Amino acid sequence: MRANRLRLGVNIDHVATIRNARGGHLPDPVRAAKLAAASGADGITAHLREDRRHISDRDIERLSQEIELPLNLEMAATEEMLAIALRHKPHACCLVPEKREERTTEGGLDVAAHHAHLAPFIAKLNDAGIRVSLFIEPSKVQLAVAKALGAPVVELHTGAYCEAEGAERLRQLARIQAAAREAAKLGLECHAGHGLAYDSVGDIAAIPELVELNIGHFLIGEAIFIGLEQAIRRMRDLMDQARASATVTAT
Ligand code: PXP
Repeated sequence: MRANRLRLGVNIDHVATIRNARGGHLPDPVRAAKLAAASGADGITAHLREDRRHISDRDIERLSQEIELPLNLEMAATEEMLAIALRHKPHACCLVPEKREERTTEGGLDVAAHHAHLAPFIAKLNDAGIRVSLFIEPSKVQLAVAKALGAPVVELHTGAYCEAEGAERLRQLARIQAAAREAAKLGLECHAGHGLAYDSVGDIAAIPELVELNIGHFLIGEAIFIGLEQAIRRMRDLMDQARASATVTAT
């Protein structure tokens, strides 16, 4: 059986990073979201960080009002972010770990260690009809706890795979493949993302249990050279090509 089409969530945070480098309104991340929609994206992802280094509260408000694609709001599990999520009710909330001093999300959320803190957040988001996703390391323990916490979705951190070389890269790929299989067994919808680029997306897109990839930094960087539409279309093609060769293991 052929694997289903893989969804592409385009993360527009770094359009806001460029805007914020100068202050003012340009470039506009909402315009990027609309262009992404017209270029084959299946969803828009935005990370409202505690320090507002890129996406702002106003961006979330405008994205909620102006885009038609499902919005995936990435956020830390804090009371402030929970209130914002409950106000805007995005399609999905992806809970991520956040440290002020980090440059980007380093590593997955340790759901096993923070089980007690996360449980009420997930319950409130679930009750509001927001699809909760937990951004975790590809590990059996993290998956089991994600399931026990009642999150319907997990997103596997692909950063270590994207950064690794040689034998280590193969080892990291095998971890992600095994975790995706385990997620499917547990009945969790499985996404993946972080650090994906043209040279790394193929092996990840070929994992048949994956339903969605979220990609941002590389696409916004590539857009400088070939434009956002072309960058997204090329990524979409690479995902589709990899997917076409992937088969779902008959159970
Ligand atoms: N998924 C999650 C949960 C993330 O935190 C990020 C980065 O904000 C991404 C996907 C996208 O990663 P990148 O910008 O490296 O493509």
